[in-house]
Amino acid sequence: MNLSKDAAFWSKTARKYAADPIRNMDGYLNTLERTKSYLKADDNVLEIGCGTGSTALLIAPHVATITASDLAPGMIEIANEKRAEEGVENITFQVAQAQDHSQEGTTYDAVLAHNLLHLVPSLDQTLEHLASVTKPGGVFISKTVCAPEGFSLKFFLINSIAVPIMQALGKAPSVNFIFGSELNKRIEAGGFEILEVSDQAGILVSRYVVAKKL
Ligand SMILES: C[S@@+](CC[C@H](N)C(=O)[O-])C[C@H]1O[C@@H](n2cnc3c(N)ncnc32)[C@H](O)[C@@H]1O
Repeated sequence: MNLSKDAAFWSKTARKYAADPIRNMDGYLNTLERTKSYLKADDNVLEIGCGTGSTALLIAPHVATITASDLAPGMIEIANEKRAEEGVENITFQVAQAQDHSQEGTTYDAVLAHNLLHLVPSLDQTLEHLASVTKPGGVFISKTVCAPEGFSLKFFLINSIAVPIMQALGKAPSVNFIFGSELNKRIEAGGFEILEVSDQAGILVSRYVVAKKL
């Protein structure tokens, strides 16, 4: 799948994504609290792959500004509806892909990418781009669905059979699962020092990584 197909897939999914309950609420709240603990009231934050904006709306009261972007216009439409309903003024939602925030040379105190890095077409280019928009000493906080270390029949069935069939039917986006250990290395190679790592169990493991821009 290419980026425009992915944008169409996620836009089509957006209303259902917004209506579905969060699968692992404890995991979500834990991630939110850990993330908030790294943010300060005067921070300018970038969130990429923000979906329907739920996390940005919860973080907004704790920071100065958030620019929250997503590849899918359908997701941003819902995010803007929610922002207007809640009367939140310090968020700007915009349609943009993960490697597309450097136009104005703006840099951010914190960059968030929750449930996104396994979906981007080029992880290294994305990390390089995100490093370029994070202030030195700023934080990059990600949560990423990863491949299990070692052989897992469940992962083999999901990744090699179920996902390709779903993709052929237009019911799954592009994905590229890597090991958690590999993800750490790639984040470090992108110009960050890792501060915190934790794994959350699920159908596949989700790795939460907080890293500081060097
Ligand atoms: C699994 S959802 C996660 C949404 C939100 N961050 C969350 O944690 O609920 C993935 C989101 O990433 C967006 N996305 C997928 N590929 C992207 C890309 N290359 N650049 C930016 N956003 C992308 C999708 O449109 C979707 O809204």
